Amino acid sequence: MAPIVSIRNLTKAYSNGFQALKGVNLDIEQGEILALLGPNGAGKTTMISIVCGIVNPSGGEVKVAGHDVVRDFRQTRRLIGLVPQELTTDQFETVWNTVVFSRGLHGCKPDPAYIERILKDLSLWDKRDNMLRELSGGMKRRVLIAKALSHEPTVLFLDEPTAGVDVTLRKDMWKVVERLRENGVTIILTTHYIEEAEEIADRVGVINGGNLLLVEDKATLMQKLGRKQLILDLAEPLPTMPGSLEGRGLSLANDGNRLVYDFNAAHEGEQATIASLLAAIAAADVHVKDLSTQQSSLEDIFVQLVGERA
Ligand SMILES: Nc1ncnc2c1ncn2[C@@H]1O[C@H](COP(=O)(O)OP(=O)(O)O)[C@@H](O)[C@H]1O
Ligand SMILES: [Mg+2]
Repeated sequence: MAPIVSIRNLTKAYSNGFQALKGVNLDIEQGEILALLGPNGAGKTTMISIVCGIVNPSGGEVKVAGHDVVRDFRQTRRLIGLVPQELTTDQFETVWNTVVFSRGLHGCKPDPAYIERILKDLSLWDKRDNMLRELSGGMKRRVLIAKALSHEPTVLFLDEPTAGVDVTLRKDMWKVVERLRENGVTIILTTHYIEEAEEIADRVGVINGGNLLLVEDKATLMQKLGRKQLILDLAEPLPTMPGSLEGRGLSLANDGNRLVYDFNAAHEGEQATIASLLAAIAAADVHVKDLSTQQSSLEDIFVQLVGERA
């Protein structure tokens, strides 16, 4: 299937000369959830804004469902919903009117039944007659999602949807995103919460300094870059490494109370190596009290790549 969004050699230099995007290539498949992960200033909002036709690219090409976002702006904009990073809503309008108005802006025929459904899906139905200024920050963010969905887009961009939102609401939002995907909506979200990418994305793109460093299936990414540690807590501390255990990649930790073995779970033959390692440890008369493994998280991988904690 042709990608729903196709980005080719995309560059952006702002008028002050700042190069915010340095040649991004990315295909987004229909129905997937893609998380764009990157620190502040990476270029996430710039990239999204170009796809949504709000910012002009300096070079390259972006197509949505085969239409060029600059030349065929009206067609592409119609297919896209955007939940912006900044909360911008008319404080004195009701939830219902805000969403209905937004649908009209996109030139769609009124459809109260559809609006009712999205408000219910977003748990906003009870608040439909409330003015926006009466809502909490989290509820306002839901209204932004409802607005972005008001014209039944096929691609939804969420720019840092859960920034500054408490943990409970964040989990609620993830459920909302999951439900949208079940309805066939393609979702691209930017985040600097690694946990968020880890939890809900099918694919993860890492962007930093205007470059897309990688984009990979989440599971593959974790496997490819993921290191594992086998940790053996010893019944008695070892003052030094026994000679028979040297040269096997083992190290002593915690004042000799622990043996640690670093390995890459994706490497072939690693299981056999571990089996022989355990046999050698038993043969050396080293008694193991407890055994555990640790897998590096997406966060560790991200720090390796970007050299910065998000
Ligand atoms: N209108 C603008 N003029 C000049 N520089 C900008 C403008 N908008 C964004 N930038 C710069 O471009 C870089 C990328 O910004 P942005 O796309 O907002 O990153 P992110 O969303 O990943 O935090 C930042 O260094 C930012 O300061
Ligand atoms: Mg941003």
